[in-house]
Amino acid sequence: MAGTPEFREQWSTKLGLILAMAGNAVGLGNFLRFPTQAAENGGGAFMIPYMIAMLLIAIPLMWTEWAIGRYGGAKGHGATPGIFKFLWKNPISKYIGVLGLFVPFVVLCYYIYIESWTLGYAIFSLFGVLPHPDPSLPQNQYLKPFADFLSWYTKPSFVAYLFFLITIAFNAFILYKGVSGGIEKFAKVAIPTLFILAAVLMIRVILIETPNGTAVQGLDFLWHPDFSQLLNPQVWLAAAGQVFFTLSLGFGAIITYASYIREDDDIVASGLSSASLNELAEVILGGSIAIPAAVAFFGVMNAQNVAESGAFNLAFVSLPAIFSNLTGGGILGFFWFFLLFFAGATSSVAISMPVITFLQDEFKLSRTVAVTATVIFTFLVAQIPIFLPKALDEMDFWAGTFFVVLFALLEVVVFFWLFESKKAWEEINRGGLFRVPRFYYYVLKFVTPVALFIILIAWSVEMFPKVLSTTSMEAWIARLVMIFILLLLFFMVYLASKRNGETA
Ligand code: ALA
Repeated sequence: MAGTPEFREQWSTKLGLILAMAGNAVGLGNFLRFPTQAAENGGGAFMIPYMIAMLLIAIPLMWTEWAIGRYGGAKGHGATPGIFKFLWKNPISKYIGVLGLFVPFVVLCYYIYIESWTLGYAIFSLFGVLPHPDPSLPQNQYLKPFADFLSWYTKPSFVAYLFFLITIAFNAFILYKGVSGGIEKFAKVAIPTLFILAAVLMIRVILIETPNGTAVQGLDFLWHPDFSQLLNPQVWLAAAGQVFFTLSLGFGAIITYASYIREDDDIVASGLSSASLNELAEVILGGSIAIPAAVAFFGVMNAQNVAESGAFNLAFVSLPAIFSNLTGGGILGFFWFFLLFFAGATSSVAISMPVITFLQDEFKLSRTVAVTATVIFTFLVAQIPIFLPKALDEMDFWAGTFFVVLFALLEVVVFFWLFESKKAWEEINRGGLFRVPRFYYYVLKFVTPVALFIILIAWSVEMFPKVLSTTSMEAWIARLVMIFILLLLFFMVYLASKRNGETA
């Protein structure tokens, strides 16, 4: 019977697992979010809080998620409502686990739309359909045709909608094929391809020189440390937020992927390997394309304005504008957007999986039915961010920022305090190629939860007044839809527990 421990799927090779986990993490965040965050928050100095957050929060949390997932998988459960009830034998625990479905599902509903833009832009670049303005025009006029082009998506147009349909069908196709037959095979192609494309672009970008500047000046601008920024708490919050987003922590998606690992397989070294691939893609490749190209083309001051105007402008306005002026620009643009599409798709299939796995494990639905139900529901909810752009920001704030950190905090508390720290520590180290240094036992028990708590409070104090003062109709629709999704998921968890004869 599908869904019992004996018959749950498994990753077929260790390499496939590491690449799939790397695909889970490597996403639009590496190439778009990271360079803009670094440029806005102290340049090279940003890497200090970034590294501290990586070592004290992200890496221990990453091992925690791998361990929770592998532990649950051995018991036949791959989504957090089903797993948490084994970690903390209290009827509430499965309802805490609902966040591990809510966060990835809501993020998926807008992420997949942005991913579809990258596919559209890749095809348009390849066929030379993107604008080709005269480079001697002033910067604003030069960029305007690209900004107009982007508004076809933000409005959206028929063509944008068509690419959204193709993207959702592409994701569904991979998901129908399952964990090893779909996701793993795709990751084995997508991750090497995107690394090669990014390396080619990095080399090409480093060679750009114009009267306004050079790419090397761009690297200097990005990495020049402004240490005074370290006194600014915002910079620390931004670094922690980036580390979370880039590694997909607090999304429930790593846990679900880890539930398909064999019971005694190593997670210590595999987890570090996939996180290292993500960092390579982020810091080396992500840091060497968008910002250096913008500085070389527009000069430091103007590039800074572009970076500060947002990650979308950098990716969808300034980079295609730069490529359109280079020899072979269509191909370079295609490389850029296609690599973003692969980065996005390997992440969107990952954040689709918690709900699919939940339906399979808790309701014993077949993969085909579980995928079909999830895809239809994603399609329906995605209409909100597609047609109401302000709703996208609202969903991103709640699901993609606030609940991610809250859920990460709850995960550590459930695993390291309620399940018990010694058992949790052994669970992380079981089958490991090496043992995690003992130092991390104390980090996980005290430092990570306290740091997450402080981040949550600091963020809430900073952001709540701003967000709650948004009273637009679009924001309210997004809030109501999210409340509806949350209640629906609670109800499904209740039904699952009744069905499985547990205390609801
Ligand atoms: N980790 C994914 C990204 O960076 C969500 O886009």
